[in-house]
Amino acid sequence: MPTVAFFDTKPYDREPMTAVAGDVAFLFHEFRLTSETASLSSGAAAVCGFVNDRLDRPCLQQLAACGVRHVALRCAGFNNVDLVAAHEAGLVVTRVPAYSPHAVAEHAVALVLTLNRRIHRAFARVREQNFSLAGLVGFDLYGKTCGIIGTGRIGRVAAEIFRGFGMRVVAYDPFPISDWAATHEVDYLPLEEVLADSDILSLHIPLTSDTQHLINADTVRLLKPGAMLVNTSRGKLIDTTAVIESLKRGHLGGLAIDVYEEEEGIFFEDLSDQVLQDDELSRLLVFPNVLVTAHQAFLTREALAEIARVTVTNINRVARGKPPLEGTLVE
Ligand code: NAI
Repeated sequence: MPTVAFFDTKPYDREPMTAVAGDVAFLFHEFRLTSETASLSSGAAAVCGFVNDRLDRPCLQQLAACGVRHVALRCAGFNNVDLVAAHEAGLVVTRVPAYSPHAVAEHAVALVLTLNRRIHRAFARVREQNFSLAGLVGFDLYGKTCGIIGTGRIGRVAAEIFRGFGMRVVAYDPFPISDWAATHEVDYLPLEEVLADSDILSLHIPLTSDTQHLINADTVRLLKPGAMLVNTSRGKLIDTTAVIESLKRGHLGGLAIDVYEEEEGIFFEDLSDQVLQDDELSRLLVFPNVLVTAHQAFLTREALAEIARVTVTNINRVARGKPPLEGTLVE
């Protein structure tokens, strides 16, 4: 029976995981996995980590010293794992690359609709019996241009949904998929042209050293004045300082984010009784044209069930010396 130390758990991921656990014994920890907490994996064959666990070299070395052999990430992104250190420590790293591209793409679209039509503000107003419409003017999506950066699994679903609104969709990806683009009437363009053409720009790329701060002081200036920027991928794709400046100048017309550069230790936690120490996040939260959700794009029943199925299958396979499911090994 493989024992698995499960970090940064919340009721919504514990439940689906337990439902498919079978022989796997989970030791659930509410705190995150870092070099300070790694020793609590002692006796476990595997650890199960999430997006804000910090699997750096000291953490991974400790895990290996505790006898852990498998790091099973219950997410798609793996930018928080030092892969060189993991492999040197003899750890197998797996992830869940495609649990539901629809969950994330649909959340990106939900953010766009909410921010554009000021649904978040309207909801708060009518609860106060304020039925005025001043300040709630949006724009038709129909006929506007949506730019998709990254036409992987999630970006393609998002592009198809935006096409459904009658938008022109332009995209940038170093590995374009021409058949798909032709079928859905999506035009691949150079990055600068996508930035300049888009009324809505949605990021669907992994965080790597190449993509970190893709949106920075220089590139944000290339955006069409009044454009809306959407990020459901990873916070560090955006230089928050540059984006705040652009919002203050009135160049960027709106910002909808499910991820934030410094979300580690903040997102997933109830900090409602505390004074928020992050000044840039505090600033973002008071813009009328900024919408922030706390990394919940993955949070659908279907996605959680698939994450649990793939994670438990891989834990069993690796524990029995079998290769993990195809496409889930992080190399
Ligand atoms: P994917 O691997 O299927 O697609 C990524 C695409 O980005 C690929 O087509 C790749 O060629 C492209 N790409 C790489 N570098 C690029 C660059 N510099 N410019 C333009 N395109 C580039 O990944 P998938 O499944 O679509 O996920 C995208 C990202 O969404 C993940 O890396 C993850 O960070 C994020 N994500 C966020 C979730 C949330 O809850 N907010 C949940 C799941 C994923």
